Amino acid sequence: MITEKRIGVLAGGTSAERDVSLRSGDAVYKALIGLGYDAVFIDVSADVCRTLRENGVEIAFVVLHGGHGENGAIQGLLEVMGIPYTGSGILGSALAMDKEASKMAFISHGIPVAPFIVVRRKEVENRGRINIQAITAITDFPLPWVVKPATEGSSIGVSIVRLEEQIEAALKQAFEYGDRVLAERYVKGKEIQIGILGEKVLGGVEVRPLREFYNYEAKYTPGLTNYILPPEIDRSKYGTIKAFALQAHKALGCKGATRVDFILDESNNPFLLEVNTIPGMTETSLLPKIAMLAGVEFPDLIEKILASALRGER
Ligand SMILES: Nc1ncnc2c1ncn2[C@@H]1O[C@H](COP(=O)(O)OP(=O)(O)O)[C@@H](O)[C@H]1O
Ligand SMILES: [Mg+2]
Repeated sequence: MITEKRIGVLAGGTSAERDVSLRSGDAVYKALIGLGYDAVFIDVSADVCRTLRENGVEIAFVVLHGGHGENGAIQGLLEVMGIPYTGSGILGSALAMDKEASKMAFISHGIPVAPFIVVRRKEVENRGRINIQAITAITDFPLPWVVKPATEGSSIGVSIVRLEEQIEAALKQAFEYGDRVLAERYVKGKEIQIGILGEKVLGGVEVRPLREFYNYEAKYTPGLTNYILPPEIDRSKYGTIKAFALQAHKALGCKGATRVDFILDESNNPFLLEVNTIPGMTETSLLPKIAMLAGVEFPDLIEKILASALRGER
């Protein structure tokens, strides 16, 4: 055991990814108890400050996905309360959660991303109608596009647009989750995800969804996605992707465990999609699977992530 202190497993919350977080939190809580730690499960709500105090939480193991749990807000609250926490800090979390801001950082570090535009609601919406021409006029890549909210996760609000007449519905759907939306060039190819733990690459996985793309249903319904570990790709290309993943993790100033999503196009060019600062943590989630292949069993992984709370450097 690396600490005798009381660990609060922060899960749930109010984001669209609440259910997934509860499952991740449950797995983390059970692993900590199994390792002999003094752990308490905290379902995060608006009075989280009081709950943390009442439960005597001294270290926070953050397993919140999406929303305030992953965008730096909870991290800021924990800093103000003086409670050390696992994973990325305020800035790393905020940057990673915002697909526009993180892409700026990736581009400035020379990490390839798919061409994209940012669509702001107030600039394109008028009386409930969306001015499609204002959007197509500034877009210099052809359909299909992937339309996604700037600050969501789990593929929530994401859709693929193949025809011009689908643009409006896709934007409206994405705007349900925020006022900024990205329209990105659709990259056809293999989806590769790289796991990182403590500034080292653990390995990767190829995800092959049986749906049009790796959507919410494919992510969370057993059997709807095939996982290939390690990915069946050219060794040197795999090395390049791993290096980009670590570079992206560092570019955003992330800490602890992250999962970095890529698409490798049909000519083997990688494009970075995003960095997830609080990857799914059920025993069948991707990062735990990648860790397992690298010889890091689930409880060991949880303990190593816990260590990120104790190191203090931010
Ligand atoms: N540019 C793209 N080309 C092809 N597919 C994409 C692209 N962007 C996203 N996708 C698909 O949508 C999924 C979710 O997109 P992602 O950017 O990772 O957002 P989220 O934070 O919701 O996971 C990806 O896993 C992939 O299947
Ligand atoms: Mg993703």
